[in-house]
Amino acid sequence: MISAEGTKMPLTRDDPRLHEDMVQSLQRELDGLKVEGLYRSLRLVDGPQGPRIHIDGKEAIHFAGSDYLGLACHPRLTQAACQATMRYGCGAAAARLISGNHDLYPQVEERLARFKQAEAALLFSTGYQANLGVISALMGFQDVVFSDALNHASIVDGCRLSRAKVMIFPHNDLAALEDLLREETSAGRRLIVVDGLYSMDGDVAPLREIVELAKRYGCVTMVDDSHGIGVLGETGRGTAEAAGVLGRIDIETGSLAKALGGFGAYVVGNRTVIEYLINRARPFIFTCALPPAVLATVLEALTIVEQEPERRQQLWDNTRHMRVGLREIGFEVSPRGTQIIPLMVGGSERVMRLSQELLDCGVFAQGIRYPSVPRGTERIRLTVTASHSKADLDAALTALAEAGRALQLI
Ligand SMILES: Cc1ncc(COP(=O)(O)O)c(C=O)c1O
Repeated sequence: MISAEGTKMPLTRDDPRLHEDMVQSLQRELDGLKVEGLYRSLRLVDGPQGPRIHIDGKEAIHFAGSDYLGLACHPRLTQAACQATMRYGCGAAAARLISGNHDLYPQVEERLARFKQAEAALLFSTGYQANLGVISALMGFQDVVFSDALNHASIVDGCRLSRAKVMIFPHNDLAALEDLLREETSAGRRLIVVDGLYSMDGDVAPLREIVELAKRYGCVTMVDDSHGIGVLGETGRGTAEAAGVLGRIDIETGSLAKALGGFGAYVVGNRTVIEYLINRARPFIFTCALPPAVLATVLEALTIVEQEPERRQQLWDNTRHMRVGLREIGFEVSPRGTQIIPLMVGGSERVMRLSQELLDCGVFAQGIRYPSVPRGTERIRLTVTASHSKADLDAALTALAEAGRALQLI
């Protein structure tokens, strides 16, 4: 605050100008985001998730979600959610360590541990909280974390909260990781942490090699398999299964809000680690237990993943159709790869313009900008699902060809 004479006036705590100053500075920052093309706003979705979506008042083919197996609105899941609500009520009304721990929790945890061939499991409210809770509980200032440069924000934040030394290696660069492991020989705990399937790039971590390196250099391994569970591997057990190291990752976390169609998250690992997390992971301790309906959907979703491999087959057929189609129209996309397909555009304003043009053509594909991806790597992120029809995919390819040519991307 500047006085009429031009001198700075100190603000007292209850001075309303303090609030005014803050609001003005926030507004300036928001205006700056608009200038940089980094401003974000919420869009209104009307109705359920699915291969088609009503967004901002119009219908579009949906390539922006993570409901890879089409389970979010599966009648068996919605029915299980309703039955659990009727039996247990809407909310747990307390943290699990207080009074919210009914029998559905251990049921889901035992099931997840079995599914992942681990000793034990623990549910968290979200994938974000799971990563935050695990890393900040297990690691401290005398420890070191080796973290992939493209790890999810929740891993980055978990590392920051832990106060451990963090050594970042270039994405999926095993030689660079080994250099760091050789260089950093401190005696504390040593953790290598990676995503299993990278949410913005669609590529997978070389888990077999990472497990070998961890063994050689005395590290614990942690994998966030949010986008791999239900999808990758012969039986949908995730990235570790696909890499032939199922049961050999020390700690795995993952969101239950992607291919499993529900909500919440898990950590699986050694029994003592899980027991420690129950006692020390603050995002587990200081939050309300997941609602019963959510737990019931996880059980049902796991049953469907096990009983219906044809859903995964359909997902891979659709993915291949889309990837081959994108190459044919001129995008640089590998014909082999996962259900997450990044189309590199470059430039925040440009990527959002492409996203809007696609929406105008009836295709919803989100533009991804900093800080979700590094600056200069802005992209359209397409996510294919098992429930897209071939007609949906072909209509999207037509729109992408038109919009891509208009922006001289192809
Ligand atoms: C790799 C990865 N980890 C963790 C999360 C967080 O999961 P949740 O949405 O359950 O908080 C996400 C979701 O965006 C993710 O993509």
